[in-house]
Amino acid sequence: MSKILVTGGTGYIGSHTTVELMNAGYEVVIIDNLSNSNKKVLEGIEKITGKVPAFEEFDICDKKKLDEFFSRHQDISAMIHFAAFKAVGESIEQPLKYYRNNLNSLLNLMESARKNKINNLVFSSSATVYGDADRLPLTEESPLKKANCPYGETKQICEDMIIALAKSDEDFQSIVLRYFNPIGAHESALIGELPIGVPANLVPFVTQTGIGLREELKVFGGDYNTPDGTCIRDYIHVVDLAKAHVKSIWRMLENKKGGVEIFNLGTGKGNSVLEVIKSFERVSGQKLPYQIVERRNGDVEASFSSTKLANKTLGWKAQRNLDDALRTAWEWEKKLKLENAK
Ligand code: NAD
Ligand code: WQD
Repeated sequence: MSKILVTGGTGYIGSHTTVELMNAGYEVVIIDNLSNSNKKVLEGIEKITGKVPAFEEFDICDKKKLDEFFSRHQDISAMIHFAAFKAVGESIEQPLKYYRNNLNSLLNLMESARKNKINNLVFSSSATVYGDADRLPLTEESPLKKANCPYGETKQICEDMIIALAKSDEDFQSIVLRYFNPIGAHESALIGELPIGVPANLVPFVTQTGIGLREELKVFGGDYNTPDGTCIRDYIHVVDLAKAHVKSIWRMLENKKGGVEIFNLGTGKGNSVLEVIKSFERVSGQKLPYQIVERRNGDVEASFSSTKLANKTLGWKAQRNLDDALRTAWEWEKKLKLENAK
């Protein structure tokens, strides 16, 4: 079976994707510098799949190490590039850190891989590239607006680099996946999201409040032009997202038609912050303390995806709903508490 390089494979989405790739019979080799993840994730992957993926710990911005890596792995068929920094707020405070890591890692990867005739790349992009939408749902044809932070800008520039390379070289092909809001954890509660410090994203903040690590959730803004006044997002279960990567790999290796294809990955359904809280309360059987506060700078009012293209062309559709995602996120949070108590 084909060998797939997964950069950032011990991270949140990368670990779930590694599991789905291994379950589908692919051989996986991970590169991760553990800047935002933990080696223990590999144990979780092994418990789920019964196998340990090959793992190499280094920074993809280190070109020498990457070249040396490819010289030892010339049989790689395709790559999925997850490795990047992803915190919106931090990218505003430390923009150069984001440009350096997110742009250099992709540049190095494309240059080194192509020297070794590895021409298939799946890239982790984000719905953030659409900015504040004029019309919903967002389709792949929706205009890209100026990004509201350096993080978003790095995703737009990375997409441009991939498109330019594909135009210049017909052997190179790529699938760019624009994720909406990934949440939830693996059903086994053996892998999940591991935020460092205070979570900036909604769902880890909700589960950490539920478990007692945080006093209350602050709901950012209750006066938006939405049915309950809170922002709307398209929350996609991380396992559904992971499965879309397996479909993308399969499509690239089967099709070999060159060029770049772009797909939105969402459920097609928008949920408000208050609906997320209600879902958490349903699946956990407990009340969540929260209060509505000022809007957060840079938040868009509503964002959800059209699923048409991914359904039709990629043959992929999200199977899990909001309650499935909150339930698995909650099981994972409880598991972390047990582990930490040991
Ligand atoms: P994550 O931080 O959990 O995983 C990223 C992994 O990459 C981490 O394990 C980190 O240690 C590693 N890494 C970072 N820079 C590296 C480098 N230079 N060399 C080697 N390893 C490096 O993040 P995630 O949530 O799994 O996100 C994966 C990808 O998906 C990212 O590109 C992110 O921008 C994108 N994305 C994430 C979301 C989200 O909400 N989680 C939404 C849209 C897009
Ligand atoms: C969701 C909703 C908040 C925290 C971000 C990035 C995006 C992508 C996914 C990487 C919003 C509200 C949140 C809290 C709250 N990442 N909220 N209280 O902002 O849609 O997207 O993550 O590509 O680029 O911008 O996700 O989880 O931060 O927020 O009320 O404590 O929850 O206002 O409406 P967001 P999020």
